[in-house]
Amino acid sequence: MRIAILSRNENLYSTRRLKEAAEARGHQVDIIDTLHCYMDITSNSPKVRYNGEDLPQYDAVIPRIGSSITFYGTAVVRQFEMMNTFCVNESIAISRSRDKLRSLQLLSRKGIGLPRTGFASKPDKIQDLIRNVGGAPLVIKLLEGTQGIGVVLAETTKAAESVIEAFMGLKANILVQEFIKEANGADIRCFVVGGKVVAAMKRQAAEGEFRSNLHRGGTAKLVRLTKEQRATAINAAKAMGLRVCGVDILDSNHGPVVMEVNSSPGLEGIEKATGKDVAGLIVEYIEKNAKPYSSRSEGRG
Ligand SMILES: Nc1ncnc2c1ncn2[C@@H]1O[C@H](COP(=O)(O)OP(=O)(O)O)[C@@H](O)[C@H]1O
Ligand SMILES: [Mg+2]
Repeated sequence: MRIAILSRNENLYSTRRLKEAAEARGHQVDIIDTLHCYMDITSNSPKVRYNGEDLPQYDAVIPRIGSSITFYGTAVVRQFEMMNTFCVNESIAISRSRDKLRSLQLLSRKGIGLPRTGFASKPDKIQDLIRNVGGAPLVIKLLEGTQGIGVVLAETTKAAESVIEAFMGLKANILVQEFIKEANGADIRCFVVGGKVVAAMKRQAAEGEFRSNLHRGGTAKLVRLTKEQRATAINAAKAMGLRVCGVDILDSNHGPVVMEVNSSPGLEGIEKATGKDVAGLIVEYIEKNAKPYSSRSEGRG
């Protein structure tokens, strides 16, 4: 098959591994810089332009869209969808996952375990909001933060009030969330491919830190999932409509709760912690699910 990886940097571990895994299985791979793609959106034969030429009709596209380019990146993925190209994650599902509020609303509707979470735009609602999530200590989160930046732990009600007021004063949208203390600074990253958890790791925050992000100095190791954790991850991926994703779970005293679902999960941490060929499993998923363009009726002639 002919596969494109949408990525800003061919040297990133995840990009390199996906290319390597696809080539090892006999596919032809192009790494396409997402921001260098452009398009004539009104053409009746939609195409993606790249360096002055039309990109070929790929059999599959693997979007690796960083959170800093969500808007443009999803427009490019959507253009490939207009060309009937199989995209490993759909643009709409990527957009959904980039907004923590929207994600939690969708997960909640499906009855998936979540930390108690509130949202408001006016400071006069703060006290009720804090009470609703069970009081301090609590976590305050920017809607579009990533890598642990924009996640604050407020130990007391007073601290929570002033942090919330400060964020609202800056017109930043925030979530107010129950602090899952019993997780002890650990979370579980479940890597889901095609409705199955193919690898899982436990990430432990650095000493004195509650955020387990590897970018914040967390360490990762292989973990065996309970049935409940596995089901939570699979249901969360399904609710978000993501075929490949990382579902982050905290172990709370009211069962596993989903913190977030990542639509371009990194491969380095999970492959190193688990020793699994996750890139190969993604390629295998594509082989089973993407119909080669040349075998489709619209691809002939
Ligand atoms: N409600 C919570 N209770 C306890 N720890 C939390 C909570 N929310 C986030 N954390 C910790 O902070 C980290 C970052 O939060 P997260 O919501 O995943 O934001 P980001 O998108 O920046 O990674 C998580 O990996 C987890 O370790
Ligand atoms: Mg996170």
